[in-house]
Amino acid sequence: MALKDFVLQELEHSRHTHISGQALSQKLGVTRSAVWKAIQALKEDGHQILSSTNKGYRLSDDSDVLSATEIAQHLKEAYRTMPIWIYPEIDSTNTEAKRLCSAQPIVTGLVTADCQTGGKGRLGRSFYSPAKTGIYLSVILSPKTAFQNVVFLTTAASVAVYRAVLELTGQKTQIKWVNDVYLNGKKLCGILTEGVTDMENGQVQNIIVGIGVNITTDDFPGTLSETATALHIAGIGRNKLIAAVANHMLDLAADLSDRSYLDDYKANSLVLGKDICYVQDQTNHHGKAVDIDKDGGLVVQTPTGQTITLNSGEISIRLQK
Ligand code: BTN
Repeated sequence: MALKDFVLQELEHSRHTHISGQALSQKLGVTRSAVWKAIQALKEDGHQILSSTNKGYRLSDDSDVLSATEIAQHLKEAYRTMPIWIYPEIDSTNTEAKRLCSAQPIVTGLVTADCQTGGKGRLGRSFYSPAKTGIYLSVILSPKTAFQNVVFLTTAASVAVYRAVLELTGQKTQIKWVNDVYLNGKKLCGILTEGVTDMENGQVQNIIVGIGVNITTDDFPGTLSETATALHIAGIGRNKLIAAVANHMLDLAADLSDRSYLDDYKANSLVLGKDICYVQDQTNHHGKAVDIDKDGGLVVQTPTGQTITLNSGEISIRLQK
């Protein structure tokens, strides 16, 4: 790590209090002028650092630059060594994660960006990803770190977002089967899980769990303005939220045979007990969502009293008004 990264780490540690140039130089074993230069370099990178002649330096509460150092600092120790890729702009963090996986072996990793020009959603839809108003991340997993069942990873990702948002903001979100997280009835987060196949042996080489959460977005285009929402909580810091989501995701992915996380999934379901419409084999159906089974399938009671189970795949559901 460069000196500026160590300085950033110290500023992040004492986020709400000043730390003097003298204290920094002593702690890091460098001259005060080296500290000053590191501070200038951090400011050039966009970090908002407040300086006071008597008290020293501190990060402004609004300082919110994506930083691998800061993300790593908030990651659990076990996950701190995973590679982190950060881009000011990328087509899609999922697509970039796939490119990275094709170019090198990756066991676990994290790709994130300030903005996505081609953010992807499920069923070929797009995901609105304007600069710096949300988090757009892809967690790279491999058969070494995760059970290969993509459905469970997507379900687990919803619970990871639910837990991270609760932990950092105290807000309770709701999960719409299978992969959307809602806040106060509007979509806050979308999840897209994709596999990377090894061309030579046809086996799944990596799984990419892509997660997008709107944080401060308030000008959604078109119909999104009616259906989407953002956290609207100042001062959380994107690095902290990314790390919290990744921590929960990696914890859950480490042992997906332990399905106790489905309790959170069910307890905070947006659909259970509701009348829903779903499209299956290009036909519209409706019924009542009555349960989520141990395999993550949505159990639906049809108008004829039959019980069927929907397994995510290509199904999209809508709540009936
Ligand atoms: C959906 O709403 O249907 C899923 C949206 C998934 C969006 C995330 S943002 C990070 C990652 N990169 C993408 O292109 N998509 C996912």
